[in-house]
Amino acid sequence: MCGIVAYVGPRDAQPILLDALSRLEYRGYDSAGLAILNGKGVEVRKKSGRIQELASACQKKPVQGRIGISHTRWATHGGATDINAHPHLDATGRLALVHNGVVENYLELKAKLAKAGHKFISETDTEILAHLVGDAFASSKAQGEERLVEAVRNAIKQVQGTLGIAVIHSDLPGLVVGARRGSPLVIGIGDGENFLASDTQALAPYTNRVVILQDQEVVALKAERYDIASPLGVRSDIKVEEIENGVTASDKGSYPHYMLKEIFEQVSSIQNAFRGRLDHDGATAKLGGLNLPSEELRRIERIAILGCGTALHAGMVGKYLIETLAKIPVETHHSSEFRYGDSPTSPHTLFFAVSQSGETADTLGALREAQRRGFPCLGVCNNVASTIARQSNGGVYMHSGPEIGVAATKSFTSQVAIFTLLGLLLGRLHTLSASAGHEILQSIESLPEKIGQALSHSDEIKKVAQKYAKTKSMLFLGRLANFPIAMEGALKMKEITYIHAEGYPSAELKHGVIALIDKETPTVLIATQDGVYDKNLGSLQEIKARSGRVIAVAHESDAKIKGLADDILPVPETHPLLQPLLNVIPLQLISYHVAVVLGRDVDKPRNLAKSVTVE
Ligand code: F6R
Repeated sequence: MCGIVAYVGPRDAQPILLDALSRLEYRGYDSAGLAILNGKGVEVRKKSGRIQELASACQKKPVQGRIGISHTRWATHGGATDINAHPHLDATGRLALVHNGVVENYLELKAKLAKAGHKFISETDTEILAHLVGDAFASSKAQGEERLVEAVRNAIKQVQGTLGIAVIHSDLPGLVVGARRGSPLVIGIGDGENFLASDTQALAPYTNRVVILQDQEVVALKAERYDIASPLGVRSDIKVEEIENGVTASDKGSYPHYMLKEIFEQVSSIQNAFRGRLDHDGATAKLGGLNLPSEELRRIERIAILGCGTALHAGMVGKYLIETLAKIPVETHHSSEFRYGDSPTSPHTLFFAVSQSGETADTLGALREAQRRGFPCLGVCNNVASTIARQSNGGVYMHSGPEIGVAATKSFTSQVAIFTLLGLLLGRLHTLSASAGHEILQSIESLPEKIGQALSHSDEIKKVAQKYAKTKSMLFLGRLANFPIAMEGALKMKEITYIHAEGYPSAELKHGVIALIDKETPTVLIATQDGVYDKNLGSLQEIKARSGRVIAVAHESDAKIKGLADDILPVPETHPLLQPLLNVIPLQLISYHVAVVLGRDVDKPRNLAKSVTVE
């Protein structure tokens, strides 16, 4: 969480920092700040609220200077206030620091510093870090720029937890020091100017030449050069990478919100996920990025999928797809649980880490744990330059294009698309017949059109949303592969409307959840015509018998359910294995429309961030 940008060069730092920072707002948006060396000392501006608030404050009272650091925050320690916003200063007020991560032993460090006479004005762990670096600077015997580098190195030795930091000191007016442990940092190389940022997206308008800082490295960044060192010594084999410049795609176009744009983009994003990966001759899929020959793929006895939130829900649909098509057992894990749990792992297991951003700290931690246990772990990522994409032993990119809305939509369907391909590929290596493979390939090819058809019901769904928007609590039910779709529907509803919602397997209703059913608590029931259709109708009747209202996700052609449910969210029919991909679309739309009726901040819901880079 949190985004960092630093600049050093010949230009005015303030507009560059504000612009680059706004590209990182998806990492956190509860407060923002910057610190610039103005020739006399460190000048700071910070504001709670969005980066726009900071920009207005800077417009009223600009800060002049050619070197600075900035930060957009997602609060961990201390509320979203002006004072808790970064940057934080050390005891002398001459050093400023921004931080992404968590100082786990901050109370212990704070007590030690307080004993030595330090006073703190914020409730953050980061202020402790600024004071630690300041103290290390004061006691350092090193000369010149090495003094700040050494101070950072010595201070972070005392810290437990994760950090990506950028530090400036008014005694060293041409230097930014950055350090990374766990939280990503990227150096952007310009012409006579350099940048430091949490990810490459921030740098897109300024440079496409980057160096990814490795864990435990410290960088001394100046306008004309940068030096990188780890505890093992100076890095001499620096690889400058050229990244794709992704500035263009973050435009809302004619849509009122990114989320709606991204929901509608699923017609093309699904095509991108399948493009070049369908093998009609072999009635199978091609996934070159797996880096595994057929013989090795055939030896896989188990698959484990790691992810968080929406990505995990996609993995749960993936489990169903792979088990059905390839008959290979699949386990899914919340990344955070796998990372610290004792769950046994079987030999010949292939791991997948699923992450849109590729920066989710829990999933990165889980991936590393799987690798530590000696398993290959492949990535399913959207962000090609991300830490998870780099850390994994291969994988499959989603090619969804930037997803800006905090609620994941198109990335979900792309992830499910990839697991469909994986199921098909593994299935064809085992017992799946060529005719069954062809049937799936044909259905895949008609999916974009069917997604378009599902989206064409948006206005009807808006009317249903208007009817239910005042509800306090909702249930989402589905069976088999539609159970994770129900969970995903409930998650969307919670995160952007703030209405309490829970997703359950339909049949679990009678084991306790049914106690919640009354006139005020509507149920969204996924009841497309499949092998458990009649069972779902049974659940529908049980809800109606208790005066509950039912909104059914049903096939457009299903006349029977129209007479039973209160409202219908219609979807076209497709191959039963692909149906969940269509069923999620009305659930995305209903959450979106409810959020709009309630006047919620759809693209930036409260308390959330697009990329969760802290544990
Ligand atoms: C929900 C949502 C989150 C993310 C989760 C994982 O709409 O966006 O639940 O899915 O934080 O994020 P990634 O996929 O970036 O690892």
